[in-house]
Amino acid sequence: MPEHAREDPDSVNSISELVVTIDGPAGSGKSTVARLLAERLDAAFLDTGAMYRAITLAAVRDGVELSDEGQLVAVLAKHRFDFKAAQGKMLVAIDGQDVTEAIRDNDLTAKVRFAAAAPRVRERLVRMQRAFAARHARIVTEGRDQGTVVFPEANAKFYLTAHVRERARRRKTELEAKGRPADLEQIRQAIEARDRSDENRTVGPLKPAPDAVVIDTTDLSIAQVVERVYRHIEERCSRSV
Ligand code: DC
Repeated sequence: MPEHAREDPDSVNSISELVVTIDGPAGSGKSTVARLLAERLDAAFLDTGAMYRAITLAAVRDGVELSDEGQLVAVLAKHRFDFKAAQGKMLVAIDGQDVTEAIRDNDLTAKVRFAAAAPRVRERLVRMQRAFAARHARIVTEGRDQGTVVFPEANAKFYLTAHVRERARRRKTELEAKGRPADLEQIRQAIEARDRSDENRTVGPLKPAPDAVVIDTTDLSIAQVVERVYRHIEERCSRSV
C-alpha cells in the first residue's frame, strides 16, 4: 500500500518489532547499506531523503518561493506523495506521476536544504516516517535525524561517515555509470556545502545519536559495511534477527 501524505499518522499506533536507523552525510554509503540490510533482515526500507527531495521537486514545479515555509507546507498539503519500497529501492510519485529519477537531479539536490531547514515541514515528514514504521513490523530507515529525533528508541542505530574525498569519488563513479561525466572538484564542493547546511540547521541536524555505532566507511567495501552492521544487530537484537 502506498504511503502518502494525506494519511493521519496519529491514528497509527503500533510498535515495530525491529527499527534500525542509519544516519550519515551524503556519500557515506548509507542508502546502499540500508537497502541491502533491509533485504537481509526482510525489513521495509525507508529513504527519508527522498521525502525531502519530493517536496522540493513539487515546490519547484509549482514555482513557489523555497525559503517561504508556509508555501512549502501548502505544497505538502496540496499534492499526493507516494513512497513505496519496491525492487530494492524507494519508488516516489507526486500526484500519481513517478519522480523516482527526477528527485536525484543535481540542481534539485542543491535546493533540498530549504525544505530540510523548515521546522513545520520536518515535523510533518517526521510524523509520516513514524507512521511508516507503525505499519511495518521491521524497518531499516536512513537519513540525517533518524536515530536522534525520529526513532530515539530504535533497536540499533548506526552513523556512517567517510572522508569527503572518498565520498566525492563515489558520487563521480555513480554519475559516470549513468553516462554523466562529472568534475571531481565540483562534486566535492557541492558535498561540502551540503554537509555544512545539514550539520548547521537548528532542526534535525546531521549528527550521530549518543548511542549510535559510528562506522568510518572510507576504506571499506559496501559488503564489509553491511557485514559489520549486521553483526552489531545480531549482538544487540538476537531475538529479532
Ligand atoms: O540522503 P539524501 O542525499 O537523499 O538527502 C537529501 C537531503 O535531504 C539532505 O541534504 C538533507 C535532507 N534530509 C534531511 O534533512 N533529513 C533526513 N532525514 C534526510 C534527508
